[in-house]
Amino acid sequence: MKTVIWNGSPRKKGDTASLIQRLRELLPGEITEIQAYSCDIAPCVDCRYCWEHSGCCREDGWQELEKTLLSCDNVVLASPIYFSEITGPLLSVLSRLQQYFCARFFRGESSPFAPKKGGILLVGGGDGSPRRALETAETLLRQMNCREIFPAILCHNTNAAAALEEPGITERLQAFADFLKL
Ligand SMILES: Cc1cc2nc3c(=O)[nH]c(=O)nc-3n(C[C@H](O)[C@H](O)[C@H](O)COP(=O)(O)O)c2cc1C
Repeated sequence: MKTVIWNGSPRKKGDTASLIQRLRELLPGEITEIQAYSCDIAPCVDCRYCWEHSGCCREDGWQELEKTLLSCDNVVLASPIYFSEITGPLLSVLSRLQQYFCARFFRGESSPFAPKKGGILLVGGGDGSPRRALETAETLLRQMNCREIFPAILCHNTNAAAALEEPGITERLQAFADFLKL
């Protein structure tokens, strides 16, 4: 079983990192974690190359990452909430998924990704609503052909308590790991 985890937090010992770490302890198989804040992948600039050609005209870390995405079974999107959204760098790197949307929409191709399972880990201080971040995360998972998405694990109280102190968090992460394993 292969799992790709997108980490949208800049904090190496922050709340997102702690949830990912706990999930990694529960999840067998090969795990690839991608750090949105340090991976060398440029954002999509809507150059429209992919309206007519397969692939992306930008050659950077994406092409290597694509191989991992093509062969994985699960995708986990993990992010803090910034201004009610997932973080900018995570959205920036995942904007490169636009090439697969264009392949379908403009060139009539099907998704190159086999059906996958997915899930979302979101943390927030507790301001506002997490709804927008959840919707964005789900849209991005669907672009990677995640057909089954586990109910999001949300810790929206980190101004007061660390995400790992959220009541029942270990059980929810265990249930998520079990869902990915099946
Ligand atoms: C620029 C910025 C914007 C934020 N916006 C929100 C927000 O809209 N809602 C919220 O609940 N928390 C917000 N937060 C708080 C973070 O989501 C919170 O501190 C989170 O635990 C950070 O996760 P991390 O430790 O994994 O990086 C914001 C924090 C920053 C730095």
